[in-house]
Amino acid sequence: MQIEPVAQEAPERAIVREFDLSGRTAVITGAASGIGRETARLLAEAGARTLVSDVNEGGLAETVRLIGKAGRPAITQVADVSRRAEIEALADLALAKTGRLDIWLNVAGIIVHRPLLEAREDEVDRLLAINLKGVYWGCVAAGRAMKETGGSIVNLSSSGGETAVPGLSLYSMSKAAVNMLTRTVAKELGPFGIRANAIAPGWVDTPMGLHSFRDESGAIDPGKRELGLQQRAQASPLGITGTTRDIALAALYLASDASRFMTGQILRPNGGVSMP
Ligand SMILES: NC(=O)c1ccc[n+]([C@@H]2O[C@H](COP(=O)([O-])OP(=O)(O)OC[C@H]3O[C@@H](n4cnc5c(N)ncnc54)[C@H](O)[C@@H]3O)[C@@H](O)[C@H]2O)c1
Repeated sequence: MQIEPVAQEAPERAIVREFDLSGRTAVITGAASGIGRETARLLAEAGARTLVSDVNEGGLAETVRLIGKAGRPAITQVADVSRRAEIEALADLALAKTGRLDIWLNVAGIIVHRPLLEAREDEVDRLLAINLKGVYWGCVAAGRAMKETGGSIVNLSSSGGETAVPGLSLYSMSKAAVNMLTRTVAKELGPFGIRANAIAPGWVDTPMGLHSFRDESGAIDPGKRELGLQQRAQASPLGITGTTRDIALAALYLASDASRFMTGQILRPNGGVSMP
């Protein structure tokens, strides 16, 4: 008997398919700037319909313009992730507009530089409301919307969640909590075909990372910036600093079928600066 050869897909096509997000809907919080904006742009480039959200309406409009330039209209919704109802409205909007929700990225976050002994209650409450509760309610909203279909949740953590840095106790605590939350979400929602992973980037040049380059008036000091960039690059065995695209590529991997065997993990694009 003659055995028919199995039709083989060209390997390069399989790779493209594994990273392809065509027909999928992705919600991205914190999409008006930095990592969130670049991730939204890259996911749209990979074929996803994006719902981009942030508190910064102007920045969001620029993100939508960039995504539109690639010929992909984005849905946009201003939302404050410290308000649970506004997060849930994002999931509802994604379902109403596209009929599905496949990918949810909790990117919105803030940083507070404050020595422990000078801690302020308003800062503690605000940071935890955004970095921690915002991610928590994001996971809940995404989980509920994906329960029947499966999906991928990606939480933005940080190297700071695993490395003690003076002045960053509050930020680091929130990111360490995000790591643990991600693992629990992965265990609880795995049976529904929902994966949950965290990305813990090293330092990336975004508005958030500019703090240490400012002079006393708050303006960016070009000399400080140059020196700071050099020092950060030297801390990496590769001698480089990362870009928002490096982090967006990690997000694309975790959002796509290429990472179907990954859940409950912390991916660390950090140039080898820390190796926990
Ligand atoms: N830049 C880095 O070096 C770095 C390193 C590790 C982790 N991260 C994490 O990556 C994520 C993105 O940071 P980034 O560097 O792009 O910073 P960024 O400041 O450029 O962007 C953060 C975005 O979050 C938005 N945001 C803040 N509060 C919000 C709220 N209440 N509701 C909705 N949106 C809100 C901001 O408006 C902004 O657009 C953050 O979670 C951050 O902690 C950044």
